[in-house]
Amino acid sequence: MPSNDPGTDTSSGDITGDIASQVAALPWYHSIDLPGGVTTPGVVHNARVIPRLRLPESYAGKSVLDIGAWDGYYSFDAVRRGAGDVLAADSFSWDGRGWGSKASFEFARRTLGLDGRVRDQNIDPTELSPDALGGTFDIVLLLGVLYHLEDPIGVLRRAANCCNELLVLETESTLNWLRFPAARVFPGAELNGDPTNWYQYNERALVGLLKEVGFTSTTTVYRYPLYRRFARAVRDRIKGKPFRAAFYSSRIVIHARKG
Ligand SMILES: C[S@@+](CC[C@H](N)C(=O)[O-])C[C@H]1O[C@@H](n2cnc3c(N)ncnc32)[C@H](O)[C@@H]1O
Repeated sequence: MPSNDPGTDTSSGDITGDIASQVAALPWYHSIDLPGGVTTPGVVHNARVIPRLRLPESYAGKSVLDIGAWDGYYSFDAVRRGAGDVLAADSFSWDGRGWGSKASFEFARRTLGLDGRVRDQNIDPTELSPDALGGTFDIVLLLGVLYHLEDPIGVLRRAANCCNELLVLETESTLNWLRFPAARVFPGAELNGDPTNWYQYNERALVGLLKEVGFTSTTTVYRYPLYRRFARAVRDRIKGKPFRAAFYSSRIVIHARKG
């Protein structure tokens, strides 16, 4: 650790080495740029994902709730966009049920100097409410969470109850050519080999459900393009996995607003 001892070399090289060694000892889902040019080796390349979310450039004066924050990339990004109050909420990846660790979130937050700027709360999505969180939030991020839930509609309603203005929903989607609302269910580990994946809805179903839980308007800002689904399905087929599973799965981002 860096020290005040004048005999200790506290040059940025040492600090960077220290950050790098601590990063290497932790599990990472997000790729977070830390001081000294260290980036956490996340399985998700967030810099590539974030443009799809079409987030407002400025969150100035807004409060932000990040549901399923995991390592905290989008909570830290909310501070960068000027949010006044940011709450990172999670449980599954923080309490040992998954392969993640809250230590990673805490290390990144501390290293970025955001201890006083990003609050955290261990809470399951099924328990979210204004009472449980101590209030409502202007912007609610529900990114990559909905398809993990056994009761996605109940949690969508809870997220809506906590939201004053804008919900950013990023999730799995399928069957978008159907002209009626539809869902696909994944028992076992059928979706991406992950037993915590349960549902894909088509866009009409997601829009209908968002209206059902209290949002007055929605805008679909991103759909995973057909050519990328095709390319991914071919790649999976070469690896011996079913073509159809990847071809019929896509991601979608919807902005849902109140008022
Ligand atoms: C795919 S990660 C998405 C993380 C982050 N929001 C993002 O978009 O990068 C799923 C998140 O949902 C949370 N989660 C909540 N309930 C879950 C459950 N029952 N099963 C799996 N993950 C769950 C996880 O802890 C994790 O933070």
